[in-house]
Amino acid sequence: MQMLTYKSAQQSFEGLKAPLRKFANSDVVCEGWYAVGRSADFARGAVKKISVGKRTLVLYRALSGTMHAVESACAHLGADLAQGTVVEKGLQCVFHRWCWGEDGNCTAGGGVSENRSIRTYTVRERWGIAWAWIGESPRYELPEPTAANSRHALCLRERRIDCHPHVILGNGLDFTHIVPVHGFQLLDDPTVEIEAPHRLTVGIHTRFKSSVMRKLLFLSGSAARWRFTTIGPSLAWLSVQEPTPFELVWAGRPLPDGSSAMQTVFFLPSRSAFVRALPMMIATTWKDKSVLEGLRFREGFVVSDAVFYLYAQLIEKLPEWNPDNHSQRIVQKRDDAQEKSVIEPPTHATLEEAQVR
Ligand code: FES
Ligand SMILES: [Fe+2]
Repeated sequence: MQMLTYKSAQQSFEGLKAPLRKFANSDVVCEGWYAVGRSADFARGAVKKISVGKRTLVLYRALSGTMHAVESACAHLGADLAQGTVVEKGLQCVFHRWCWGEDGNCTAGGGVSENRSIRTYTVRERWGIAWAWIGESPRYELPEPTAANSRHALCLRERRIDCHPHVILGNGLDFTHIVPVHGFQLLDDPTVEIEAPHRLTVGIHTRFKSSVMRKLLFLSGSAARWRFTTIGPSLAWLSVQEPTPFELVWAGRPLPDGSSAMQTVFFLPSRSAFVRALPMMIATTWKDKSVLEGLRFREGFVVSDAVFYLYAQLIEKLPEWNPDNHSQRIVQKRDDAQEKSVIEPPTHATLEEAQVR
């Protein structure tokens, strides 16, 4: 781990390196955990399409109860699997009724003899949210709250913010906006911990300057202390010690138009702690949405943005999601197939059989 402070990070800032290619680029998705839906919206058999950047995936709950995320194009002729039906053998394509099992392999239809498969993604359900690792197998796990804050998880409604998630999450590392936008007074030089390849933490000790809203929220003049950690390209974890202890995760999923689907989950020591945590968050993030939605990101980092730029550089080094790898493997498999079996034209009876099995 590399330990710095805001001041020492500025001293080691060497100016901009190569132009940023992945950071805040809506054409690129970096591998990581993305919040893809709410568990409660997926009864057994539910199938939905979701966007991750400019690509789409299909999320469904198998009859066994487990959630799955798969590529949206059927590995037969590319029909949209979001139009499919969940059956005993897996997700059944609407077009020719091939079925795709929970491991992605073809379980019914002409793709069985061809060993066809669709690409699957690791899904975990935590705190009422379905999380998908967008990429190959997970390189790290979802973070967990500390024991003291793990009693209550409160998940807010997903919000769309018209700004790329990297810029939204990086906002917590942007010390120079904290005073003009949020009216904080830094009490100590913030600490900076870099845990390559995917985590960056800042520790902040500050004071709420007085304002009418803060007087109403009983926060004027209060000291505040928190740690803010970016995790990969899609998550930020906030751990607040003062004025009231709680934790929170923000998850940002890029949408096709360059905006973000933002998910927030509070982790609280008790249910009533939300009454204290919410004003703290209102007083801290007030105005962020309008500023973020008004900006058109450009790489204008200077020395005072040293920590924000460190985050951009971590993003640049993360692996890029390449969903086309799997399709290439399918083509390869088909070319390598030695024996080609001939499939009889399906009868109504065989199709019905595939559906119920
Ligand atoms: S396109 Fe899906 S089964 Fe044919
Ligand atoms: Fe902010």
